[in-house]
Amino acid sequence: MKVLHISSSIHGEHGNSSQLATHFLNQIQQQHPDAEVVVRDLAQDPVPHLDAATFKANITPAHQRTPEQQQLANLADTLIEELQSADVLVLSVPMYNFGIPSTLKAWIDAIARAGTTFKYTESGPVGLLNNTKTYVLGARGGEYLGTAKDTQTPYLQTVLAFVGLEDVEFVFAEKLSMQPEQASQIMDEAKTRIDGLLNA
Ligand SMILES: Cc1cc2nc3c(=O)[nH]c(=O)nc-3n(C[C@H](O)[C@H](O)[C@H](O)COP(=O)(O)O)c2cc1C
Repeated sequence: MKVLHISSSIHGEHGNSSQLATHFLNQIQQQHPDAEVVVRDLAQDPVPHLDAATFKANITPAHQRTPEQQQLANLADTLIEELQSADVLVLSVPMYNFGIPSTLKAWIDAIARAGTTFKYTESGPVGLLNNTKTYVLGARGGEYLGTAKDTQTPYLQTVLAFVGLEDVEFVFAEKLSMQPEQASQIMDEAKTRIDGLLNA
């Protein structure tokens, strides 16, 4: 079993979203001792913002790319291969300034590739990833779940479905800044929800 963890907290392993992911990965490794975990730390190793030349290189079939285009497409090729070979995808997602981290958006811009992870048909877009089971583990200072200010859940649901990932579970630790004295209890509750999902 291959687990791909996409991490985007600027606080590294100390981030609340990272701690949820650590808990998740520990649980998975207890259940599947042979699980291989690949970590892509976007804060540590950011994906550059998409530009026109890289976009063109990315959507040019590999055998038609110039050496310069291949150079530009190398990173996205690797990120897509990581995604295609994962059996489980875990996104640990902080809320920064009312959205997902810009590093995670840059990763999404790299992996959403026409002809590879999605295609357009007469009846609309079709995702080409193999409906890998996906977990979004979010940490936020405020409370947004079920409100119009939750920009993260609908956006991630939409873009993940667009590339074929429709089996997505969301777990949020919310109100971490609103109720700092209860933060560890909030985190424990989120971890219990993770356990519930993994033991379902
Ligand atoms: C730069 C920055 C921006 C933030 N913006 C928001 C925000 O818009 N809404 C919110 O609820 N919390 C916000 N927070 C609080 C974080 O969501 C909270 O600290 C969360 O734990 C971050 O995840 P992390 O610990 O994994 O990095 C912000 C925190 C930082 C550092």
